[in-house]
Amino acid sequence: MRDVLEKLDERRGRARLGGGISRIEAQHGKGKLTARERIELLLDPGSFEELDMFVEHRSIDFGMEKQKIPGDGVVTGWGTVNGRTVFVFSKDFTVFGGSLSETHARKIVKVQDMALRMRAPIIGLFDAGGARIQEGVAALGGYGEVFKRNVDASGIIPQISVIMGPCAGGDVYSPAMTDFIFMVRDTSYMFVTGPDVVKTVTNEVVTAEELGGARVHTTKSSIADGAWDNDVEALLQVRRLIDFLPSNNQSGVPAWPTRDPVDRVDGSLDTLVPDSANKPYDVKELVVKVADEGDFFEIQQDFARNVVTGFIRMDGRTVGVVANQPLVLAGVLDADASRKAARFVRFCDSFEIPILTFVDVPGFLPGTDQEYGGLIKHGAKLLFAYSQATVPLITVITRKAFGGAYDVMASKHIGADFNYAWPTAQIAVMGAKGAVEIIFRQDAGDPDKIAEKTREYEERFLSPFVAAERGYIDEVIMPRTTRRLVARALAMLAEKKAERPWRKHDNIPL
Ligand code: HXC
Repeated sequence: MRDVLEKLDERRGRARLGGGISRIEAQHGKGKLTARERIELLLDPGSFEELDMFVEHRSIDFGMEKQKIPGDGVVTGWGTVNGRTVFVFSKDFTVFGGSLSETHARKIVKVQDMALRMRAPIIGLFDAGGARIQEGVAALGGYGEVFKRNVDASGIIPQISVIMGPCAGGDVYSPAMTDFIFMVRDTSYMFVTGPDVVKTVTNEVVTAEELGGARVHTTKSSIADGAWDNDVEALLQVRRLIDFLPSNNQSGVPAWPTRDPVDRVDGSLDTLVPDSANKPYDVKELVVKVADEGDFFEIQQDFARNVVTGFIRMDGRTVGVVANQPLVLAGVLDADASRKAARFVRFCDSFEIPILTFVDVPGFLPGTDQEYGGLIKHGAKLLFAYSQATVPLITVITRKAFGGAYDVMASKHIGADFNYAWPTAQIAVMGAKGAVEIIFRQDAGDPDKIAEKTREYEERFLSPFVAAERGYIDEVIMPRTTRRLVARALAMLAEKKAERPWRKHDNIPL
């Protein structure tokens, strides 16, 4: 018996070595952890249960029959994050560059299927070069199976991808269909084809960092939702994100204990909005002051910074926040900001996370750049996403809510449950100067009349009261009471039911 046990131990030991000591050292030398070290950090200590440790590939081409490594380049299984079940797969770059074979795909598919059956989140840690070239179509078929499951699970369980090395081909397409993608700065890259192939096909010389580094994907392409400095930080932040997310679309958001009283008032909010309408302020200050313990997990922090998206908690329960950011482009909505906010709103709505919207928006950004870039379609995405959302929607207008952007930013008309305005709110078709220039064009040569009409317009329209008189604003509130009122509204809305007529699916402008 001892013999048998020792043999098991020995086989396990071999499997744990993956591609061998020298490749593990090379991995460490690049500042990266191994697939198993990453899992240890991601999950609660001792909670990981590994599956399929002894699976090997079946390829016999290109001498592969002599190169079998137990586990076949991916470590799979399940465990817990702060006590809540999650499934995980972690690509092992030390084994054939983490590339995906037919059997490697089967291991991933097994945990994808289990995660969906158990209605628990799945996290993929990617450090891999795509389809295993030696296997050809068997590997491509394997990816197809993985992709299909990504789609089947979308909107049912949270799917999170962390890019932790050079990733190409299927190892970027599968993440692309998940809810969130995070990267590690300086050691992770995402591209459909790497710099060598780019050079061969297009003659373009580009580094991996320039082609698909964290900076590119968090600031330009918006493929990644965030990036951190190293593996350890990335994995700890993913744990933090998991704490905000529900396990599935029917479980409801987790409730964590909080010492922050829901009726806490914050006098400093009364002076957050500057006297001059043209002076900016940082809306993130409002977000953290309203949040439980100031805890804010921002999504897409470095992309389209004119809108801020992320998760907070109120009374211990997760809330999605969308906020125009007056500090960047005066908080205007452009194509990028609209896309960013629309995707976030749809994630929240899929997973029954209430949405709190802070509005200070001068309108949509005019110009050929925007129009040629499809502003109409991208703006429509946000309008569509909010209009379709059935989760509790609470809106607070802090200052400007001008033009179409007023309608789009979770107005009463498209389904918000509570619409509050601070006394500093200005709800109108446009700012006073623009409005008077149009209505009183014939008086352009009479500066006194223009000044008088501008004052008149400001007094009549640049306040929350015209909207409040019509019931479009439910209440004009003292800024200091925002947290208390939003928390009370959320508690009241906890059982909100909003049915929609049956349809196969909608046709959101893509
Ligand atoms: C088999 C692979 C591999 C692959 C890497 N390796 N990618 N083996 N299939 N796809 C192996 C290498 O041979 C090497 O083995 C080891 O992994 C480490 O790779 P290096 O190239 O030395 O590492 P590095 O310089 O860091 O470059 C990493 C890389 C590069 C950028 C990922 O390897 C690369 O470009 N690989 C090919 C990417 C690719 O084109 N994949 C196919 C995509 S098609 P040794 O033994 O030397 O250590 C696809 C289809 C999906 O995925 C469908 C999408 C819709």
